[in-house]
Amino acid sequence: MTASTLITHIGSLVTNDPNLPGADPASGPLGLLRDAAVVVDGDRVAWVGPAAGAPAADGVDDVFDAEGRAMLPGFVDSHSHLVFAGDRTAEFAARMSGRPYTAGGIRTTVAATRAASDAELSATVGRFLAEALRQGTTTVETKSGYGLTTHDEARALRVAREHTDETTYLGAHIVAPEFADDPAGYVALVTGEMLDACAPHARWVDVFCERGAFDGDQARAILTAGQARGLTPRVHANQLTHGPGVQLAVELGAASADHCTHLTGQDVDALAGSDGATVATLLPGAEFSTRAVYPDARRLLDAGVTVALSTDCNPGSSFTSSMPFCVAVAVRDMGMTPDEAVHAATYGGARALRRTDVGVVSPGARADLLLLDAPSHVHLAYRPGVPLTSAVWRAGQLAH
Ligand code: NIG
Ligand code: FE
Repeated sequence: MTASTLITHIGSLVTNDPNLPGADPASGPLGLLRDAAVVVDGDRVAWVGPAAGAPAADGVDDVFDAEGRAMLPGFVDSHSHLVFAGDRTAEFAARMSGRPYTAGGIRTTVAATRAASDAELSATVGRFLAEALRQGTTTVETKSGYGLTTHDEARALRVAREHTDETTYLGAHIVAPEFADDPAGYVALVTGEMLDACAPHARWVDVFCERGAFDGDQARAILTAGQARGLTPRVHANQLTHGPGVQLAVELGAASADHCTHLTGQDVDALAGSDGATVATLLPGAEFSTRAVYPDARRLLDAGVTVALSTDCNPGSSFTSSMPFCVAVAVRDMGMTPDEAVHAATYGGARALRRTDVGVVSPGARADLLLLDAPSHVHLAYRPGVPLTSAVWRAGQLAH
């Protein structure tokens, strides 16, 4: 038997469904409802609208009084690297005294990850998912990429799959140390035996297309090999330098081009021309933690590009699981309005994962809801660093 709950007295509700009756047209894609109610039935949203029109309380199992607080869809974090072991505190401290970030630090985490047991890795993923949930994140994508052998990449994805269906094969994070003198041999492994072992546990294929990692030709070979095995591409593109990653992502129909920090006009045009098929996923935690220049979200939004915000949570370049932190930085330093940033962190992330069941509060969607200890979603940026979670439902269950 499934339980139903009527959540009443929601002061303001971000639905991301502007077509809902009662949605404020002035809020655009946010589909904002004021004095709203939601009925959750089992794991789904059964009804949403102005409280005045809500189903009667005696027809549901439970009533939850939101007491005027603001609600929004649970955050969709479409880019993280949670299957890792070890810590790179020293590297971070060195960076903050002037050392630049390079892809080389990944090797430190690869060594620690290979040495860890499956149980340790799984516990780490679980710990960060719980940390994220407490901050309102209800959907998380996560990647391999710290194993770099057939055995270690496949087990990373098996471990990730214990926790989420949104798993990404990133055997092409950097060239494995054993192949330092034979990058072509490593690409052959990543597109051959390693792909065979990993594809059954992954939905997506990714590559770090960057100086010091993989060039455009190598990236194309890796992504098309993944596509041939039924995986959809997403690309670490244009993070540290200008490069071919963004245009390759669009050309191959990737679900997202991630980072998008160093873009030419042609890159922006290519993303805009994809008509939302390739989402620009911006990862402010990476620029924050590497003390780099932030991507220009305003330029992308003004060109009509679909933008997502994600944490990139990993021990090297962005050790945060906090979507509220990313929203606050995106508003303060990337030219986004609070409405745009909240939309990108929910609906945008869902688009980047090609999901229609999350990132929205509308009938039939998964009941993933974040209730804030605040009267408006704007407080996510207005009150940076303050824990604002009042309650979180994931798939209809009160999870926090
Ligand atoms: O998305 N850029 C490549 N990968 C990660 C960083 C990984 C690391 O430094 O361990 C990123 O920033
Ligand atoms: Fe990343």
